[in-house]
Amino acid sequence: MLDAEVRELMQPFVLSDYQVQEVYSRFCLEVARGLKRSTHPQANVKCFPTYVQDLPTGDEMGKFLALDLGGTNFRVLLVSLKGHHDATVDSQIYAVPKDLMVGPGVELFDHIAGCLAKFVEKHDMKTAYLPLGFTFSFPCVQLGLKEGLLVRWTKGFDCPGVEGEDVGRMLHEAIQRRGDADIAVVAILNDTTGTLMSCAHRNADCRLGVIVGTGCNACYVEDVENVDLLQAEFKRTKRQVIVNAEWGAFGEGGQLDFVRTEYDREVDEKSINRSEQLFEKMTAGMYLGNLVRLVLLRALERRLIFKQSSRRPEFASVLQKNPEVFETRYISEIEDDSFPEFASTRKIVKQVFGLEKASVEDCQTLRYICECVAKRAATLVAIGVSGLVNRTSNRRVIVGMDGSVYRYHPKFDAYMRQTLQKLVKADKEWDIMLSEDGSGRGAALVAAVASKSK
Ligand code: BGC
Repeated sequence: MLDAEVRELMQPFVLSDYQVQEVYSRFCLEVARGLKRSTHPQANVKCFPTYVQDLPTGDEMGKFLALDLGGTNFRVLLVSLKGHHDATVDSQIYAVPKDLMVGPGVELFDHIAGCLAKFVEKHDMKTAYLPLGFTFSFPCVQLGLKEGLLVRWTKGFDCPGVEGEDVGRMLHEAIQRRGDADIAVVAILNDTTGTLMSCAHRNADCRLGVIVGTGCNACYVEDVENVDLLQAEFKRTKRQVIVNAEWGAFGEGGQLDFVRTEYDREVDEKSINRSEQLFEKMTAGMYLGNLVRLVLLRALERRLIFKQSSRRPEFASVLQKNPEVFETRYISEIEDDSFPEFASTRKIVKQVFGLEKASVEDCQTLRYICECVAKRAATLVAIGVSGLVNRTSNRRVIVGMDGSVYRYHPKFDAYMRQTLQKLVKADKEWDIMLSEDGSGRGAALVAAVASKSK
């Protein structure tokens, strides 16, 4: 049985129907403000046009390179599109050392170009001409398909000299500096766009791409007449365009203050991008473990967990010393655990606190804390998804999803569906599909579709 006091502790994370409706209305308003030229500068859901106006047909063919920067890892991929909705992907993961994440931008791009050169060499493609799609998963103002100015860094990156610059050009220059491969950057895209494209490659009804991973964001297909920032020439021949919502920044105008908790405020205050990406800080993998850590500290202080142990001050200091000690993946593992054995939960407790035998009650308390944090994240994501699904002009809408939190959390999908059922308009038929390598296949598809439409 769960302690009434534990329920009370977690109450701030439980969103009422009223709060859900209110966040939904505020979100929809921000999307509309982001799309409109007159309100765009103040809006915090920016809704940037991506210049991707064609969805794949499934017939695309050819070999493409793709780069994927913006999650926990950096990847280089070789994608072969084979027609008939088919593709193969060969990829290599490279670490992005922590010092490069906050060091001079030029060094980051030199590192990327260096990894790219190694990959090309390994695949014996040094002499081949290769078009490249760059999945760069940070907010960018796109000036065209292959030009994107970085608006701000997110997710722990903070390299000076890149904000306001064209990242396509920076990559191109880094490749030129090495001069050892014939690679042309033909498209820059967000990971959400990649996700949408890779799902649309399989299912023609896909209209949204959503990432709940290290960061959190979505894009969707909007009618061109609603996208003020898209120049007239892009509205003449095409009816639609993918819009990158950049919803991670939602709440920066105070819209979420009525649901943010003391823990959310602390996560924000200690982050390197204070007052920014407030919706992201309640939903994304980079922050969820930290939120659980802060709640655990409060639970220890109030003697709601590890009640029998005299080592509680020591546990508190473990949590205080290292903000990353409670990893987000633990949340998924704990919710996946079986009752009453709690084998994984006990392993995690041992790993974090060095405590051998957590009681069933402790495990239940920990599980409930994780559940509330994850469920709130899923509910918020689903509020955003509902807002965008309701904006699309299609009756049938498939939502393409990816990201470590969505992929590995055993109940994230189910939590999301509960909220979608409440908020999506009754005349819509919707479903969620898991994306297969959006950042790679999606990048190749954007590159392929772009060259086709030329
Ligand atoms: C970025 C988005 C990205 C998302 C998911 C956010 O921090 O601003 O551009 O799509 O993370 O990777």
